[in-house]
Amino acid sequence: VAPQILAGKSVVISAGPTREYIDPARFISNPSSGRMGYALARAAWVAGAKVTLVSGPTALSVPPGVRAVQVTSALQMHQAVLAEAPGADFVCMCAAVADIRPAEASAQKRAKSSLNLTLELAQNPDILAELGGLYGALAKGSQEPGGPFLIGFAAESHDVVERATAKRLRKGAHMIVANQIGGAASAFGAESSKVTIISAEDALDVGPATKEELAVDIWRVAANLAGAPSKLA
Ligand code: C5P
Repeated sequence: VAPQILAGKSVVISAGPTREYIDPARFISNPSSGRMGYALARAAWVAGAKVTLVSGPTALSVPPGVRAVQVTSALQMHQAVLAEAPGADFVCMCAAVADIRPAEASAQKRAKSSLNLTLELAQNPDILAELGGLYGALAKGSQEPGGPFLIGFAAESHDVVERATAKRLRKGAHMIVANQIGGAASAFGAESSKVTIISAEDALDVGPATKEELAVDIWRVAANLAGAPSKLA
């Protein structure tokens, strides 16, 4: 039996892609399956946590014991995560949030003939960076006392560790889980992958392993770091 390393803790996990609708029949999205986030939710529950899963559209069923908040767009995910984060011990942003959305969504399906060939886009809020500003390593120079431990993900096609390390600092996350996308090692939708867990302390290679196995390791590292505040700079 696995030790209940998250007993008494409350965790918020975002998972899956977001969909940015152009009109009721068309959207912008990405190939995220949600599997890593759902595996993290299951593993956190098994480890004793109270789990809230903020999920974009996926084909997965919610793991037992997990409270799910289903969302569609990045703006909805932003609102849901910011509402759930206060009081959480961990917030894990595993979702593949779409960075862009159509500047204007049409409530009615647009005729093919009326579609412009250029689509005007707007930038979505960066949820993790916003949490980092509120609670993270960058919050007014130090971690907000009692604020959640922030975990981000970084899917990179090249210079994986360097780029993910810079991303951790830029977004104010306490920990970043980096993986390689593109080519044979792609993490999107894959059964298993290899990740590097980056904190202020070090960079730890984990895997190749299934997403379920990676989830257990990710929580082990996070619980360990969160219990040692001196390591969070
Ligand atoms: O910048 P990039 O998308 O590579 O960063 C990935 C990390 O940031 C993930 O943890 C993802 O959930 C989070 N993110 C976010 N809001 C966005 C884009 C990414 O919270 N708009």
